[in-house]
Amino acid sequence: MPTNTRDHSRRQLLTFLAGSPLLYGLSGTLLASAAAAQTRSETDAVLRGALEFKDIIESVDQALNVWDFEPAMRARVNAGHYAYMAQGADDFGTIAANRAGFERIKLRPQRLVDVSKIDMSTEIFGQKVAAPLYLCPVGAQMMFHPDGEVAVARGAKSKNVVQALSTVTNYSVEDVRAARGAPGWYQLYSTSDWPSTLKQIKRAEAAGCTALAWTVDIPARNLEPVARFNRGKDPVCQACHGGVEDGGWSQRPMFDGLDMSTVRMGLNGLTWSYVDQLKKATTMKVMLKGIVTREDAARCLEHGADGIIVSNHGGRADETGRGAIESLPEVLAAVRGRVPVFVDGGVRRGTDIFKALALGATAVGIGRPYIWGLGAFGQEGVEKVIDILMRELRIVMMQMGTTSLAKISRTSLELA
Ligand SMILES: Cc1cc2nc3c(=O)[nH]c(=O)nc-3n(C[C@H](O)[C@H](O)[C@H](O)COP(=O)(O)O)c2cc1C
Repeated sequence: MPTNTRDHSRRQLLTFLAGSPLLYGLSGTLLASAAAAQTRSETDAVLRGALEFKDIIESVDQALNVWDFEPAMRARVNAGHYAYMAQGADDFGTIAANRAGFERIKLRPQRLVDVSKIDMSTEIFGQKVAAPLYLCPVGAQMMFHPDGEVAVARGAKSKNVVQALSTVTNYSVEDVRAARGAPGWYQLYSTSDWPSTLKQIKRAEAAGCTALAWTVDIPARNLEPVARFNRGKDPVCQACHGGVEDGGWSQRPMFDGLDMSTVRMGLNGLTWSYVDQLKKATTMKVMLKGIVTREDAARCLEHGADGIIVSNHGGRADETGRGAIESLPEVLAAVRGRVPVFVDGGVRRGTDIFKALALGATAVGIGRPYIWGLGAFGQEGVEKVIDILMRELRIVMMQMGTTSLAKISRTSLELA
């Protein structure tokens, strides 16, 4: 990135941080000190010199936990791209709730169990994987690293975890499948046009995806942080968004060869009968992503869903929602083991994964943590994030005396 572009981006980042509820939500000290620099002085000298994040890791070997990747990523990517990744709805209340929900659940260890062998491998939709951990669909990953979803696929391959690919991926499902060397999941954003949506679904199916996850949690939303960036002035933004009214989604590879000029992305008034339509259209397992209530969980089953993803889109959809982990029990109660239930949102530690599994989740997803790894160090960063979470999961399984996933149960939890 040319120096003037970088300086411009940093200035935008400070402006963003100074006016952002992120200050209350994420790694507070770091952000607070950046904002303090903003209030002290806005000179270019400060922007160049004082925006030094203390203790930023310079290589994956230095990372002790997944949080370590966040400032490293922030220091490397364009400020607008950082804001896009970090943002939540309104005042980021649901992002905070995602973390708080995990923190409220306490653990009940069992002593003197032989935990010299721990097995965290499992099978998800017939696919043997190393851990009950999957990489959530995150759009347009080239903004974080030039190799984007392909770097993530290589990381998912070397660690043998499931990768879910977003509709608005920068690399095609075929390229990602080749890099992963095994099936993944395809996340669907529906459009106003069934024939073009169907073509996309068929491509995912032909590429071997085992599951189709229809994201249903954004009938509307309010995201402000990216609006703080003046895309018209940032050369990096202009390179992608210049002159493209829809933000560029229709130019993404999953829409290649389709005339999207009159098509709108989104729920477009779709209701539950669309699940029946999806079921008829594909041999992939059909899941709904973004379910947070028992009522909707029951409707998913009525319409033949093969799985449910409890998710609030990482706090980017509804505001002042409950933490995803807090929505999980009622969904599980409605499902009663008939289909697998997955959960994502705010997972940052092995203990978080353990708590979700102990409640009854089949597997647990991460979004931002692997994106921090990707933005900071590419494939290596993604791999290290997975390694750290698997190491932490192993530790907590030893502490709880649960040597395999089958042995993990609610008895390990004290719910507040
Ligand atoms: C930058 C970003 C882009 C995302 N893009 C998508 C997407 O294209 N489709 C989707 O279903 N969810 C998307 N999500 C939501 C994630 O799939 C996931 O639900 C969420 O990130 C999990 O929360 P976490 O980031 O706290 O781990 C996105 C999340 C982020 C942070």
